Formats: sequence, C-alpha cells, structure tokens
Amino acid sequence: MVHQNVFLIKIISGILITCLAFFVFRFGQFSPVQVSVNGNSDSQFPPPSVILSDNEDLLPVDIDVEKCDLFTGKWIKDPLGPIYTNGSCGIAVDGHQNCITNGRPDSGFLYWKWKPNDCSLPRFDPQRFLQLMRNKSWALIGDSISRNHVESLLCMLSTVEKPVEVYHDEDYRSKRWLFPSHNLTVSNIWSPFLVEAAIFEDSNGVSSAAVQLHLDKLDKTWTDLFPTLDYAIISSGEWYLKTAVYHENATLIGCHGCPEESNMTYLGFDYAYNTSLRHVMDFIARSNTKGMIFFRTSIPDHFENGEWHNGGTCKRTEPVSEEEVEMKVVNKILRDVEISQFERVVMEMGEETGNLKLLDFAGMLLTRPDGHPGPYREFRPFDKDKNAMVQNDCLHWCLPGPIDYLNDVILEIIANG
Ligand SMILES: *[C@@H]1O[C@H](CO)[C@@H](O)[C@H](O)[C@H]1NC(C)=O
Ligand SMILES: *[C@@H]1O[C@H](CO)[C@@H](O)[C@H](O)[C@H]1NC(C)=O
Ligand SMILES: *[C@@H]1O[C@H](CO)[C@@H](O)[C@H](O)[C@H]1NC(C)=O
Ligand SMILES: *[C@@H]1O[C@H](CO)[C@@H](O)[C@H](O)[C@H]1NC(C)=O
Ligand SMILES: *[C@@H]1O[C@H](CO)[C@@H](O)[C@H](O)[C@H]1NC(C)=O
Ligand SMILES: *[C@@H]1O[C@H](CO)[C@@H](O)[C@H](O)[C@H]1NC(C)=O
Repeated sequence: MVHQNVFLIKIISGILITCLAFFVFRFGQFSPVQVSVNGNSDSQFPPPSVILSDNEDLLPVDIDVEKCDLFTGKWIKDPLGPIYTNGSCGIAVDGHQNCITNGRPDSGFLYWKWKPNDCSLPRFDPQRFLQLMRNKSWALIGDSISRNHVESLLCMLSTVEKPVEVYHDEDYRSKRWLFPSHNLTVSNIWSPFLVEAAIFEDSNGVSSAAVQLHLDKLDKTWTDLFPTLDYAIISSGEWYLKTAVYHENATLIGCHGCPEESNMTYLGFDYAYNTSLRHVMDFIARSNTKGMIFFRTSIPDHFENGEWHNGGTCKRTEPVSEEEVEMKVVNKILRDVEISQFERVVMEMGEETGNLKLLDFAGMLLTRPDGHPGPYREFRPFDKDKNAMVQNDCLHWCLPGPIDYLNDVILEIIANG
C-alpha cells in the first residue's frame, strides 16, 4: 500500500512538474512587455484599473507606486494649498503652532506640496482615510513632534468628521480621540524617550535636575497599549540630547553632560539612544503584533545663529533645495542610530518584522526651514513692540504646514501596501 502510494505521488508530481515547466516556458516566450521607442507600452495585458469605491476591499491598484520611493522628491508649488485652515481647526491645534492666528504675516509657505521623484502623490483624502480606518485604533507615540503630527492628522480628518476627546492623562500629555461615526480612535502617547525616565522639568522645559534614564526598561505608557493597536507611529530622538544619568541592568552606568565634580563615566547620547532603540526595536519585532508599526526617524530642526535658549531663529519664507541645507551633526547622529537599529532588527528577524516599517521624513522636512512658527509661537508677538525679543520655535511645525504632507505619504503607504 505504502509503496503504491509513493509511486502514485511520484507519477503525479512528475506530471505536475512537466506541466508547470511547459507553462513557465510558454509564458516566458510570449509575455514580455514590448516597449516601443516612442514610449508606448505594447503589453498584451491591460493596465490595472483604478477603482475608487467606498469599499475598503477595492483599493486602487497603482503599479508605479511599487517602484516609487515616496521619501525622495521635492516640494513644488501648489495653488490649492492646505485642506484645512486656522479657522477650521483652531481648537485642536496647540496655540504655539497656530501660526496664522498668532499673526505670521506671510502665507506663501502654505502653497507647496510634496512631489516624489518617480510618481505623483495623491492629495490626502480624509474621507478615504476614515473609511479605511473604520473600527481601527491608532497611536502616535513619542515627543512633542508626535503631538504636532497627531494634531495635523486630526485637523485633516476633522474636515470630514469632528473628533471627540475621550481620554487625557493627569497632565494632558497623552490623549485619545474618537471619530464616532467611523469608530476610529487616535491616541497620542507622551513618551519622549520610549524608555523609563524620571524627568524633573517644568512646562517651560526648565529642568531642576538631570533626567534619570533606564536604557533597558521600556516605558509602560506605550508598551501597555501596544498590543491593542492596529497602527502605530513611534519616534524619539531630540530628548536624548538632554543632560541625563543612565542606568542599565538596574545599575548606574554613566551620564551625558555630567556635572564637572561628578566621577561618573561619561557616555555619549548616541550610546544611550542606541541602547534604548535596540530594546524598542526588539520589543516591536518580537511582539507578534498584527498591527502595522511605523518607526519614524527624528526630524531635524532649523535653528540658525543659535539654538532654543540663545536666540536661534528661522526667518525663511520658502523651501530650500537639498544643496542649500546640511543636516546638523547631532541630527545625523540620531538618524544614523535609528536607521542602523532598524536595519539590525530587520536583518536579525527577517520576514517576521514584516509589519515594522520605517518612515524617514528627515530629507523631506530638511528642505522646509520656512515651515516653523519662529517668533509666531506666541500670539501677536510684535503688537506692542516691533523689535521685541521673543523666543523662536524652529523645531515644531506650523499647522497648517509642511508636516501635513507626512499624512499624504502615510495614507499612500497604507492604501498601496
Ligand atoms: C485665523 O487667522 C486670521 C489671521 O490672523 C485671524 O483673523 C482669525 O481670527 C483666525 N481664526 C481663528 C478661528 O483663529
Ligand atoms: C469599534 O471598534 C472596535 C475594534 O477596534 C470593536 O471592538 C467595537 O465593537 C467597535 N464598536 C462599534 C460600535 O462598532
Ligand atoms: C465595525 O465593527 C462593527 C461592530 O463590531 C461591525 O458591525 C462592522 O461590520 C465593522 N465594520 C468594519 C468596516 O469592519
Ligand atoms: C546588562 O546585562 C546583560 C545581560 O545580563 C549584559 O549582556 C550587558 O552587558 C549588561 N550591561 C551592562 C552595561 O552591564
Ligand atoms: C565617586 O566614587 C566613589 C567610589 O566609587 C564614591 O564613593 C563617591 O561617592 C563618588 N563621588 C561622587 C560625587 O559621586
Ligand atoms: C549600536 O549598537 C549596535 C549593536 O546593536 C552596534 O553594532 C553599533 O556599533 C552601535 N552604534 C553606536 C553608535 O553606538
């Protein structure tokens, strides 16, 4: 019996392989797409049709996008401008990023859109996003740039449906909104280091003591929520530049920006960031989550002639070309750590990290020094004195502003797999 069965299987396999070989051969002979000199495709197969429909199963199929790097491109003039205004979304926006209401006089920075080199990026369609995201749960996890990003997304979506705030923590730093008629929840989780941190800082960012950072203990604020998420955008970076004391294996191992009299080991912020991100990436990769998880690289600032606390400014009113700007050394270091830890985990875990994707907007936003509030982080800063000395913000982004286009890219990635 056994022998007969084996023999039968061998015969059937043989026939199948022969058939397969024949079809592959035929297919190979007749299928090449012939491209004529004038560029007309002479393919025998019709191009996939683009179906625009309410049904999320019928996503548009866009073959070009497979080959298109959405993160490489340039900003081109766009007379349409943003899909929302300071008037339509004033409430959701942190006052410090509400540039138009605060009196920023120029509006040219609103009329540019992101154009990837190898394809066109459809304008963000909030209706489509909401339809795709029925019953889904999102979280943007990180620092104030994540908050800036979540507010941008809420503003774009609120042109179709107004979100309802359903949760905030004690300090109003983590929040959750619900889009009731789509049953979509969007959370913003405050976790600037992604690892456990004791921060001694007031709301103006003035610190009274060094941050105590546990490089190998992930912050439960986000890890507890993580298994329930369908989509997450995780990021960090800038906060690692702060003076901090580092702990690993529950042992004090050193510090960054150590006080002079201390006898702690000096460790660079790159060491701390690298170690933390190693734990973050390993956690995500090993989590078996069904969600789609994006790690977003940190976004460079545009302070010129100084920094936050010593008079740095950003006075430009137009995008610049790649040749005109160079990423600052610290931003390069942060990004190198991010990309190398991402690549490491993908290498180690292979296919299993299929749900972890990298969002690298650093180059795209580096060319937008015009997109920051600058002095217009305050309401009408020059009303009383046109030469007033005001603190500038060249790190966060005006809303509306260039950060909105992150959502165009993200929707395209989700819609086209
Ligand atoms: C939007 O900005 C304009 C110009 O500064 C201002 O007049 C208007 O009051 C703002 N609208 C809201 C709702 O803040
Ligand atoms: C909303 O979505 C959640 C899943 O995220 C689901 O469990 C729940 O039943 C949905 N509620 C309604 C009213 O559709
Ligand atoms: C959303 O959840 C509700 C309740 O569980 C369900 O009836 C509905 O079909 C779901 N919609 C989608 C698009 O998954
Ligand atoms: C922490 O412990 C792990 C495993 O026990 C070890 O590999 C690592 O070197 C330790 N790190 C430090 C800084 O002592
Ligand atoms: C310096 O190191 C010694 C020995 O490890 C320790 O006893 C002492 O408290 C340290 N001093 C400071 C200022 O941390
Ligand atoms: C970061 O950690 C990896 C190991 O995970 C190591 O190979 C690399 O050299 C480290 N980079 C920095 C900047 O410390």
